Amino acid sequence: MIRKIVFSAVVLVAIGFLVYWQQGGQNEAAKTGEVHFAPTHQKVVDEMLAMARVGPEDVIYDLGCGDGRIVITAAQRWGTRGVGIDIDPRLVRLSQRNAVRAKVENLVSFYEADLFATDLSEATVAALYLLPELNLRLRPKLLREMRPGSRVVSHSWDMGDWTADEARLSTPYWNEWVPGDEPKRSPLFMWVIPANVSGVWRWSEGKDGGIKELRISQRFQKGQGVISAPTGEMPVLVEITGNRLRVTTQEKNAAKTRKTLYEGTAEGDVIEGTAMVNNGAIEEGFPWRASRTPHTRMDLENKTPSQRKEK
Ligand SMILES: C[S@@+](CC[C@H](N)C(=O)[O-])C[C@H]1O[C@@H](n2cnc3c(N)ncnc32)[C@H](O)[C@@H]1O
Repeated sequence: MIRKIVFSAVVLVAIGFLVYWQQGGQNEAAKTGEVHFAPTHQKVVDEMLAMARVGPEDVIYDLGCGDGRIVITAAQRWGTRGVGIDIDPRLVRLSQRNAVRAKVENLVSFYEADLFATDLSEATVAALYLLPELNLRLRPKLLREMRPGSRVVSHSWDMGDWTADEARLSTPYWNEWVPGDEPKRSPLFMWVIPANVSGVWRWSEGKDGGIKELRISQRFQKGQGVISAPTGEMPVLVEITGNRLRVTTQEKNAAKTRKTLYEGTAEGDVIEGTAMVNNGAIEEGFPWRASRTPHTRMDLENKTPSQRKEK
């Protein structure tokens, strides 16, 4: 009789536990995102961090952080501050435990949140291991919220027609999660957030203070320019790296070629830097300060007037 009672009690407790566990599991499963947890191999984590040139001054965000390994590794290696965001609360708790185990809990924080609703303005590096369509959906947000010069590094997936500044395969590794006989190599991509320098820029130049005008159209980090010159308009080469800008012009008249290299830092509607003129015989430099007509700034993706967000 006693045996029967004990057996029934054990069965009841087991059923109760199963029901409780299943309900909890269902609630939490409802919070998983469109891409499920698969950890980046530690070797690949190291290569992603090297590619993004992560250092002690950075703040790294892992958008969909899984077990937290990317921000934890950066904190361990360089003392980098990090934030991990995951939609799955169980992974957020796992990341927090892993950070304590790695003794970096003072440097890293993990939050249960939707990465699309997370403010990225503090991040100088964003790490991604998502899906192609999620990268594309995230693209305008990265370009809008991260400061020029910040880096985005992605495991496996690119960003469509926003070509990477650096792309390569990782060194081979054995994937302990999906056993196979072939070593794997993961595609890795890195982008530098470009300043938005699109629009019409003007400055005065030369002894007579003549006004020069440069029109830049820009898609992501690629720029094309047209500059006004005494001889008319001419196309110029525009190179954009973060908030650094290089504009190279070449004017030909009679037997002479006059080349000018403008180099500067863009901050809002102002570029400040230097210009170097070379006409074959002499080379001279002078300060360069250009201002943009604000409403001429365009969106980096759509070529429509941009809804700017001042930082
Ligand atoms: C492939 S795992 C990558 C984990 C980690 N970044 C790594 O490389 O080891 C993708 C992670 O993104 C999370 N995730 C999916 N959609 C999300 C969303 N909308 N917001 C936040 N996290 C999301 C998943 O829960 C999962 O942990």
